[in-house]
Amino acid sequence: MKHKRLNRDGWGFQYYPYYQMRIDCECFHGLACLIRFTDGEANYWATPKAGRIQVTGEGMTWLELIPDHEKRVITIKYFPDGTHDEERTNYPKSFCTKYRPSIWYVDVIEGMEYDEDGIAVFIDKYLDVIFTPEGDVKIDDRSELDQAHDAGELSDEQYADALAECDRILKELCSDIAKTNAWCGKVREIVEERIAAGEGIKKSREVLALEKRGYPTRQKAQELVREAEERNPGPWGDHSRTAAHCAEQIAARSGMDAEKAYVLGLLHDIGRRFGKRHLGHVSDGYSYMTSLGYPDAARICLTHSFNQKKLEAYVGNFDTTEEETNLIRTKLQETELDDYDRLIQLCDSISGAEGVMDIIDRMSDVKRRYGDYDQEKWDANLALKDYFEKKMGMDLYEAVDKEHFRPSAK
Ligand SMILES: [Fe+2]
Repeated sequence: MKHKRLNRDGWGFQYYPYYQMRIDCECFHGLACLIRFTDGEANYWATPKAGRIQVTGEGMTWLELIPDHEKRVITIKYFPDGTHDEERTNYPKSFCTKYRPSIWYVDVIEGMEYDEDGIAVFIDKYLDVIFTPEGDVKIDDRSELDQAHDAGELSDEQYADALAECDRILKELCSDIAKTNAWCGKVREIVEERIAAGEGIKKSREVLALEKRGYPTRQKAQELVREAEERNPGPWGDHSRTAAHCAEQIAARSGMDAEKAYVLGLLHDIGRRFGKRHLGHVSDGYSYMTSLGYPDAARICLTHSFNQKKLEAYVGNFDTTEEETNLIRTKLQETELDDYDRLIQLCDSISGAEGVMDIIDRMSDVKRRYGDYDQEKWDANLALKDYFEKKMGMDLYEAVDKEHFRPSAK
């Protein structure tokens, strides 16, 4: 039997705000969990009476109830508060309150436990009952239950228990769906009151790991670049997107973390947010990322321009204050360059605003614009190309799809 966490990591929802609380009141004794869909695309199922059923999407809320002494998890998938899908023309008028369910999904379970982070886990016993406000009632996965029984995974008793629980669910929840709705609404009211009073989000191990890492999520990094571009528009935004794409592709083929590489590539020039500066964009980026709590991204803002760790080799104007220059010099000295530093240095030297460039063309272009290009730096960039081509076992331009890739802000 499958173990499923109530924060629904199998669905990829573990990053949404998730609450888990024990409730003891007249109307409910048991565990109540709530997931808020702060974003994400809408997904639909289809049922005969209700038609297209929304199950996920921005603004929706899932309430999951595990009543004491019963072998079920009741999941109510609510529309965004105060709304329901206009397509649902048969949606019952009597349901028009604040909390409007799109669908109920009830899992028959063997039992429940907690994982090492305290997230509730249920042991799924195959059988499910699905019902809608419009009156659809469907028993799902009966064949899976039968198969598990035939294969000896479930004893006769466990099998009979599952069927008996299914019958009770039909009788207790599906015979009067309006009454079930009113009851669920009451429990949700209590849950919402608890959250409003300060009940904390229950963090899973994935969320805790995310908080510990030194760079933002992909989505957050994209937002940061968009916002910075509004403040200082220019080709640097698309240059950064090309660098992110290249970093992701190369990392994926080099045994490195592709997501981390993408984010670091995207943010390496984030210092441009503060205006048109040369060396200044390095210290601006470093300070900005440090202030947001992203030390790995801060480090890349600093190291991407110095493949020799040599401040003097910077191609461009030295337009920093003494304090900024010292910051760059000191931090650079402290840093031992790693493969992510090297990767972004390489990507910076092949990324144009229109797409991927030949490394020689790009360096010549920079040389033309600034009048000079440190020869050691030139050679070091070519060495980086060799280094990553060996790691990948393939041609650099092929790996990053130089011919076809075009950056886009979407
Ligand atoms: Fe750059």
